[in-house]
Amino acid sequence: MILDKKFENLFLNVSCRAALSVYQFIGKKNKIAADKAAVDAMRTELNKIDMIGKIVIGEGELDEAPMLYIGENLGSKNGPELDIAVDPLEGTNFAAHNLPGALSVIAVAEKSNLFNAPETYMNKISANVNEGNIIDLDFSLKKNIFNLAEYKNKKPDNLTVCILDRPRHKDIIDELMNLGVNLRLISDGDVSGALLVTDEKYGVDLFLGEGGGPEGVLAASALDAFNCFFQGKFLFKTDQDKARAKKMGIRDLNKKYQLKEIVSGDSIFCATGITSGNLVSGIKVDNDEFYSETLITHKSSGLKKIIKKHEKI
Ligand code: FBP
Repeated sequence: MILDKKFENLFLNVSCRAALSVYQFIGKKNKIAADKAAVDAMRTELNKIDMIGKIVIGEGELDEAPMLYIGENLGSKNGPELDIAVDPLEGTNFAAHNLPGALSVIAVAEKSNLFNAPETYMNKISANVNEGNIIDLDFSLKKNIFNLAEYKNKKPDNLTVCILDRPRHKDIIDELMNLGVNLRLISDGDVSGALLVTDEKYGVDLFLGEGGGPEGVLAASALDAFNCFFQGKFLFKTDQDKARAKKMGIRDLNKKYQLKEIVSGDSIFCATGITSGNLVSGIKVDNDEFYSETLITHKSSGLKKIIKKHEKI
């Protein structure tokens, strides 16, 4: 099944309204209030859509999140059955501290075509490569770098790798420096980090490292539309993580997921800027009107563009 084109505008509106709702909290050092505003707005807008929607990635499980929890049903209950992944406020620190890169993100696919990801970390890798055996989570870092350099006809010291700047990545970062690779260290926001490989203009050849699992699934749906490479391996560190995974039906806790196992069939992805960042500009308000920028992709229609909107609040 193909998702009707009308859903492009409908989901674009959802991420725009969620982004707008955070505007009043930008730079207010209140992550909780900012996140709550985004969740409320996203949920309200989703409920207006004619669909039988189900959250597969959201704010957590019912016992920890009253809204947009995993399994919540949304929409008018008339229309197609859709799986929905949301991150109403990706980069809570960015929004709370008025730093670049906060986004409202949503991805939608037909029922059972979007991975139901637990709230754990994921080891991820993405690049603008559409051949197998060039990069792989199971290859050594050195092999990935040398293969990618050859594939891109570049020297390793002309490659740039994006990675979250975290102590857990110290060994990877040290090795990348030894290999002479350029680094793009990000303080947060790895949905955007993973998507920087989609276009040469962002100057990133490879994204890798451990970040949120839900963020990995969201990024994968856009990477699919861009025909890019993505793999992810969930990291179940605690007994609670393992129990949660089993409850969600994950049997092999060490499985490496290919992009198509995370998102298949048709999908729509929207990421609207809250504060201006690498991908899109943030919300601007002028009296009773607002301006927004959204990166939208729709796999089946080939849509991959940044849409600027200007509308009444
Ligand atoms: P939040 O918006 O939920 O704060 O997430 C920001 C983020 O940087 C994600 O993009 C990333 O996947 C995750 O946090 C990394 O987690 P950690 O900060 O624990 O390394």
